[in-house]
Amino acid sequence: MSFDLVFFGGTGDLTWRKLMPALFQAFRHHKLPPDGRLLAVARDERSDDEYRAFIKERFAEVEPSKRPSEEEFARFAEMLHYRRMDLSQPEHYAGLKEWIDARGADVAVMFLATSPYLFPQICAQLGAVGLNGPRVRVVLEKPLGHDLASAQEINRVVRESFAEHQALRIDHYLGKPAVQNLMALRFGNALFEPLWRRESIANIQITLAEGLGVGTRGDFYDKTGALRDMIQNHALQLLTMIAMEPPSTNDADAIRDEKLKVLKSLRPFTPERVARDVVRGQYRAGTVDGRAVPGYLEEAKVPPDSRCETFVALRTEVQNWRWAGVPFYLRTGKRLAARDSQIVVNFREVPHPIFPGTRRANKLVIKLQPEDGLELHLLAAKGSGNNELLSPVSLDLDFDKAFPSERVGAYERLLLDAIAGRLNLFVRSDEQEQAWRWVEPVLDAWTDDAVGPRPYAAGSWGPPAASALVARDGCAWAEEQ
Ligand code: BG6
Repeated sequence: MSFDLVFFGGTGDLTWRKLMPALFQAFRHHKLPPDGRLLAVARDERSDDEYRAFIKERFAEVEPSKRPSEEEFARFAEMLHYRRMDLSQPEHYAGLKEWIDARGADVAVMFLATSPYLFPQICAQLGAVGLNGPRVRVVLEKPLGHDLASAQEINRVVRESFAEHQALRIDHYLGKPAVQNLMALRFGNALFEPLWRRESIANIQITLAEGLGVGTRGDFYDKTGALRDMIQNHALQLLTMIAMEPPSTNDADAIRDEKLKVLKSLRPFTPERVARDVVRGQYRAGTVDGRAVPGYLEEAKVPPDSRCETFVALRTEVQNWRWAGVPFYLRTGKRLAARDSQIVVNFREVPHPIFPGTRRANKLVIKLQPEDGLELHLLAAKGSGNNELLSPVSLDLDFDKAFPSERVGAYERLLLDAIAGRLNLFVRSDEQEQAWRWVEPVLDAWTDDAVGPRPYAAGSWGPPAASALVARDGCAWAEEQ
């Protein structure tokens, strides 16, 4: 299959930091269809060779095992092209169309790695020159809007040029191998389904913890905050994968219909519920990995009186027969104790304990990062001493060991899927809008709230109120258990 993959924002951070390294991995592992061109477009004047040199230099920042050798880069670079484009100029889009039509590849994918404010303009211009035919797809990177109205507006404009199945909204968490394994675990194995419900599960916790702070993105982050940056998209997408009903097929719409039902079943927030069930925090100076780090308000490009949240923990419920009454806790934050993203499914305790001592319920831990694996925590008799005393043990599955050399990173997976037209791991506009609909009352309540975010020390697990939130239900976060 021949393809053209065009990157708007071709010299930007996302392109050289994430997309090019991901494409190189796909190329190295012979997963990228060979008959392809990668075209970067941006504002300044450069030749193909200058752009290749720019990308080559940037590979120095990629982790060593993922860097190309001279010879590998030379072969990869043959696919790389560059074109100057002023995105406000219709004739520049016409020129792009000529460049694409001259070869007539089977597929042309337009990856919008620009500021989202440019999405409407780019989509309208692509449509105007006819770069929206059946073989064209457009990939949209987050943030897709900052509230429901702005997301709807972007979708409206995109829809004027592209059909829903041509518009691929990226949530890079859906590309993570652990998330695909969650689908495999639930719908490729019969074992868990009978247990995957309120009768057996006490609560579910989704934690997306980062050790890093906001770095150089202070200005962007301060207008965004953790709720928009991580909960509205990544955490909610994970929640839908955990809570959805089995889809009737593995087709994109069958899956997305079920995910949408989950989003529609989430308990709506009222101002009272926000006050009770949502904790927001902001990091202060502290120590991460043995290193002293500044607080959020001291970070570059952050206003000294900012009320932006760098941490959110919340409690919600999925209001349907399967999940009624089961708390779902979502938590994310920057400058937490560790980079550690996982989903913990806490099962109920045995109904009638016959062993003395430890009373620990089973739990299934789906680890997203830093490693990617599954742990099933059980109680077992050690076989020595007092056999009646049970000890906690776990069955561990490390996917890197189980499938060495097969692992495909999130952007690599999503780029290959975009080229192949597999839509399962992309977010449909109605899912995205429903997620905004659900978080918006929280944003509104915060605007009116005089208190602001609660401080927490960098290197901790967030404000103590986050522990109190789960303790209220008699639960504890994984690291407190
Ligand atoms: C992005 C957020 O979507 O996800 C960043 O904008 C965050 O703020 C990043 O750091 C986390 O992604 P990952 O894959 O490193 O967990």
